[in-house]
Amino acid sequence: MSAALSKLAKSMTPYGKYFPLKNVYLNTASAGPLNLFAKKKLDELDKRWLTGDADFEEETFRMLDEIRKMGAQLIGADADEIGFCPNTSYGLNICIAGLDLKPGDEAAVSELEFPAGVYALKLLEQKGVTIRYLKTEKGYLTPEELAVSLTPHTQVFLTSYVQFFNGYKHDLAAFAEICHNNGTLLVVDGIQGVGNQVLDVHQTGVDFLAAGGQKWLLSAGGTGFFYCSSKLQKKLRPAYSGWLAVDWKLDWSELWKKDLIPFDSARRFEVGSYPHEAVRHFHQSLVLLHKVGVAKIERYNKGLLDLLAEYLSDSPYHLRGPLEAPHRSSILSFTHPQAEGLVRYLKSKKIAVSLREGGVRVSPNFYNTPEEMGQLASELRRFAGRKVGKK
Ligand SMILES: Cc1ncc(COP(=O)(O)O)c(C=O)c1O
Repeated sequence: MSAALSKLAKSMTPYGKYFPLKNVYLNTASAGPLNLFAKKKLDELDKRWLTGDADFEEETFRMLDEIRKMGAQLIGADADEIGFCPNTSYGLNICIAGLDLKPGDEAAVSELEFPAGVYALKLLEQKGVTIRYLKTEKGYLTPEELAVSLTPHTQVFLTSYVQFFNGYKHDLAAFAEICHNNGTLLVVDGIQGVGNQVLDVHQTGVDFLAAGGQKWLLSAGGTGFFYCSSKLQKKLRPAYSGWLAVDWKLDWSELWKKDLIPFDSARRFEVGSYPHEAVRHFHQSLVLLHKVGVAKIERYNKGLLDLLAEYLSDSPYHLRGPLEAPHRSSILSFTHPQAEGLVRYLKSKKIAVSLREGGVRVSPNFYNTPEEMGQLASELRRFAGRKVGKK
């Protein structure tokens, strides 16, 4: 292990106490584990709620304000460009359903895109928009492949920041340049990268991004945030509206008011009451992520995956990628003819990974250790050396 990784691992040790994991959990790309730092706040709320103290609404609103700020810091946006959403799909729909498109327009997406984006885009077929699934040669869409695929009719291109099955991190800046030169909007599913990769949406030129909180943001299902650039906010038509899309200034004494105007921020796309428990969970997990620091998380997770890559390079397993620095993420994936059996075997050894599109997906985070990566490598070695037919 390199001295740099060893130093990073030491600096992560204090956070281990929040994650009483009973297995080697290398599966954050599926779901982030509950952490005790957030659980404390949930318990406090439950106690108040159980005893009839329902006066926690103001705290929820304060936390939501902070969530918008912390979300903005995570991706280099301004707080008024961030709104709360219950998952990635809902966030993407805020954008897609709000676009003023007409028959003959086109939307483009990689053929390898996760279904959250694909099915959100399919809504546009009702408007006569054609969805084009862009072909890929190498297991990811290159900027060159995108450039030759866009047409004068392509109004929107949707892409994951980090691909779910092989962890390939797309070059969003290159995508943005190609899209904008063509008058095409760049919409990003950020869930597999936000919280583990340093991203600046202003610098890269992303127009819209959504990320559920349930994976790398270490929150409960039912949380997430979206980014809508201030420029796009002026163009996007809210597909829904609701009483919390307008500013009551936390004064609920005159609810018959009919003339309040929508927030002059991304918040105008939030429509109704919030999940109080999930908001607390999300808030605390974001505080924790900020304490650790995303730049550090990015470096540490890469260091952990380097250990795996080193083992894989001289093994019967076939690395699926990525290994080129700009496209690395906190996910590494490899294949093996018995991938399904391997994932089951690892589970029996209390190592959690995922099977995705025929490959084994490994996704460590700052609560994992180099020793755990060693355990994974040992079990991979053992599995590879087993006699065929043996369980
Ligand atoms: C790339 C990607 N997008 C979206 C999701 C989930 O979408 P949602 O938050 O809408 O459930 C996942 C995984 O579940 C994913 O890997």
